[in-house]
Amino acid sequence: MKKVDDFRLHLGKHELVPLMIGGMGVDISTAELSLVAARLGGIGHISDAMVPTVSDRRFDTRYVKDKLKQYKFNVAESNKAVVQFDLNLLAEATRRHVDATMTAKHGDGLVFINCMEKLTMNAPRETLAVRLRSALDGGIDGITLAAGLHLGSFALIEDHPRFRDAKLGIIVSSLRALQIFLRKNLRSNRLPDYVVIEGPLAGGHLGFGMDWANFDLATIVAEIRDWLKAEQLDIPLIPAGGVFTGTDAVRFLEAGAAAVQVATRFTAARECGLPAGVQQEYFKTDEDNIEVNMISPTGYPMRMLKNCPAIGDGIRPNCEAYGYLLDAKGNCQYIEAYNRAVAAQPEARKVKVWDKTCLCTHMRNFECWTCGHYTYRLKDTTHRLADGSYQVLTAEHIFRDYQFSTENKIALPEPQEP
Ligand SMILES: Cc1cc2nc3c(=O)[nH]c(=O)nc-3n(C[C@H](O)[C@H](O)[C@H](O)COP(=O)(O)O)c2cc1C
Repeated sequence: MKKVDDFRLHLGKHELVPLMIGGMGVDISTAELSLVAARLGGIGHISDAMVPTVSDRRFDTRYVKDKLKQYKFNVAESNKAVVQFDLNLLAEATRRHVDATMTAKHGDGLVFINCMEKLTMNAPRETLAVRLRSALDGGIDGITLAAGLHLGSFALIEDHPRFRDAKLGIIVSSLRALQIFLRKNLRSNRLPDYVVIEGPLAGGHLGFGMDWANFDLATIVAEIRDWLKAEQLDIPLIPAGGVFTGTDAVRFLEAGAAAVQVATRFTAARECGLPAGVQQEYFKTDEDNIEVNMISPTGYPMRMLKNCPAIGDGIRPNCEAYGYLLDAKGNCQYIEAYNRAVAAQPEARKVKVWDKTCLCTHMRNFECWTCGHYTYRLKDTTHRLADGSYQVLTAEHIFRDYQFSTENKIALPEPQEP
């Protein structure tokens, strides 16, 4: 019976354990988590979501405070068009986050950054270009293009000196999305180095509609694999979403995948950015408490724990401090939903907003508990302690379990000293 360690992912000159920890914004996939994957010979991700905020926490900078101060005059306005990111500061924050991570990297593995197109930041093209370019400047090993079709993303960096040396990949959820990406990026004369195929059981935003349950990852992977073969294109495929055991991974590797991308199991790791209390909510949860809803202002369905504080919370939009989902005209679906709720309940001290959520504020405070479908199985990967809480794992334990386990087994950690 095969295990993940019997396979290797070849990316250029790199020979890697075929296990990639997916990007989880906002700093849920921390630098520490990504560095464990790299040390053990796999691939980890940091995320470029809200990097100025992450930098304030990690390096004691003041990006958020300073931006709020600059735009304080606009806080009560519903029109957020004036609120702009300073591109130099955005570049500085991204370079610092990436550079510090890469400097701390040891081992044969790689660290990539997850870059979401849906973070439109009131100037979609300009801010995306800065985020991509400064990640390359900071020495990142690779960039995974996420949450969007990224039809113009290669063009934004094709003159960068590292355009052909850094590994560049894209996340898709259908053959059609991949075909469009390849067609639109043809001009750059560069194929992606890998394609992550994310199925309907993944965490975060989904690349499906609310009919996500009608899709199946293995079927999409086979469809993309067969099409690439027919086109004589050799691009490593990396399925993601619901790969919960080493055996699940082996099934994909035997069917021709080059690696797998996983995330949910690592939300139970000590190195993960989720606060301890939130991690316990993930452990405790039952299947009934996990839903896919439409409250993300991005317009994509998102998987969440139903008891997360973000749902229904009518917080005043905080775009002067954040503003990561403002579109090119300074609109965000949450602002519209909030204004509707205020108009409907003019006397209320605090309104309830059910149809959308302020994702920036709630992700920043770890109150939007996005999660993968199999979060309810996390409790089976560890011990329940005498006080009723669950033992948090090390990322190394989880990584090794994926790497060496067989027969759908999950190795429990050494019990923690009482
Ligand atoms: C808490 C959480 C946050 C996530 N955030 C992001 C994100 O910011 N960007 C992204 O492309 N994918 C995100 N994902 C998706 C993962 O990177 C990964 O592809 C997917 O969850 C893998 O499936 P699994 O969780 O079943 O292992 C997130 C997943 C989780 C669980």
